Amino acid sequence: MKIAVPKERRAREARVAASPETVKKFVSLGAAVTVEAGAGAGASMLDAAYQAAGAAIAADIAPALAEADAVLKVQRPSAEEIARMKPGALLCCIMAPHADRATLDAAAQRGLAVFGMEFIPRITRAQSMDVLSSQANLAGYRAVIEAAHHYTRSFPMFMTAAGTVQAAKCFVIGAGVAGLQAIATARRLGAVVSATDVRKAAGEQVESLGAKYVFIDLPEGEGGGGYARALTPDEQKKQAELVANHVKTQDIVITTALIPGRPAPRLITTAMVETMKPGSVIVDLAAEAGGNCELTKADEVVRHANVSILGFTDLPSRIAVDASSLYARNILNFLQPLVDKETKSLKPNWDDEIVKGTLLARDGKVVHPALAPPAPAAPPAAPPAGASADEQTIIPARPSAS
Ligand code: NAI
Repeated sequence: MKIAVPKERRAREARVAASPETVKKFVSLGAAVTVEAGAGAGASMLDAAYQAAGAAIAADIAPALAEADAVLKVQRPSAEEIARMKPGALLCCIMAPHADRATLDAAAQRGLAVFGMEFIPRITRAQSMDVLSSQANLAGYRAVIEAAHHYTRSFPMFMTAAGTVQAAKCFVIGAGVAGLQAIATARRLGAVVSATDVRKAAGEQVESLGAKYVFIDLPEGEGGGGYARALTPDEQKKQAELVANHVKTQDIVITTALIPGRPAPRLITTAMVETMKPGSVIVDLAAEAGGNCELTKADEVVRHANVSILGFTDLPSRIAVDASSLYARNILNFLQPLVDKETKSLKPNWDDEIVKGTLLARDGKVVHPALAPPAPAAPPAAPPAGASADEQTIIPARPSAS
């Protein structure tokens, strides 16, 4: 069983898909692991540490890629990497096929068995493999650190001889994995924290972290699988009122609201930003899916009406050591059960729920049900009498990218 770990080459990516700790484990399972020289440098995981763990270091990863039975990456591979991999090899990475379908199609055509790590089913048995959770957790933490860095006042209250410095007020929108960690981190830094979500279960979790839960009355905002549903126009209006009233009293706003398979809901308008206190900071974790704030620009800091809006899409990479360690463990936990102990080779059980849920392509075809080619379009039906042009327009869902 040969495993190759190339260096990540995508802009703003400092993570690596294997750590010395996971390499050691793969070696103990009978694998020959080759790591590209400098692959872990961005995460302070040096070549010498990989070597000590039993890996070979390759200045040129191409020969190892050509022989590898499994290739471990963080980001989806380049066309060059795909062309070098041998048909039948397993590829594990965050594939983001909704953002870039062509790369998945190319990997499928090459005959690779492509595992999209962001597709790991959210079931108890797969918790230790859950890349979305491990990375979102760190992103939530890092969002608060970025906010503190751009905020020109203090998070905690200070009582000094010269007077009292007030604690920052922090509002977290979306109390999922990232949001709950943002709440905990902002509390640890001494901020007065409030949060909102649309799922009923979130309220108790927010309060258990010592934050105030602010909410609109909804029948149930969960749409299945623990994820939120899109709100109706009436519910959106109510939520806009709540957000508008609340943000004007806040110093820091961290937004994390996402709905699977749709653009991020727009929750903070320009007019709302203009009511915020000078020096306030918004960190928009939904920037890659279009942003929860109207002013967000992905990977930029926008300054509007003395408010800074941060749209960083690389928050886990900004905490690369821990993000890499956890990501590498997620991959190890995913691959370990696929290793046949007797032959010391990779033998996935293609019927296993986790394997099936994560497998995007195999034997030359894209196989994941969520990625099936769209059905041929039906001939356009005549619009109902009196329907306006807008009502006839179908806007394709913009999926959230990883
Ligand atoms: P996510 O990244 O899809 O969304 C982030 C948060 O935004 C969610 O809490 C969602 O309810 C909220 N949201 C969406 N629209 C909103 C709006 N208009 N206003 C306010 N908030 C809005 O969610 P994430 O963090 O991936 O978690 C989703 C669910 O999955 C949670 O219930 C979580 O507990 C569950 N989960 C289960 C796991 C497991 O069973 N292994 C692992 C991790 C999470």
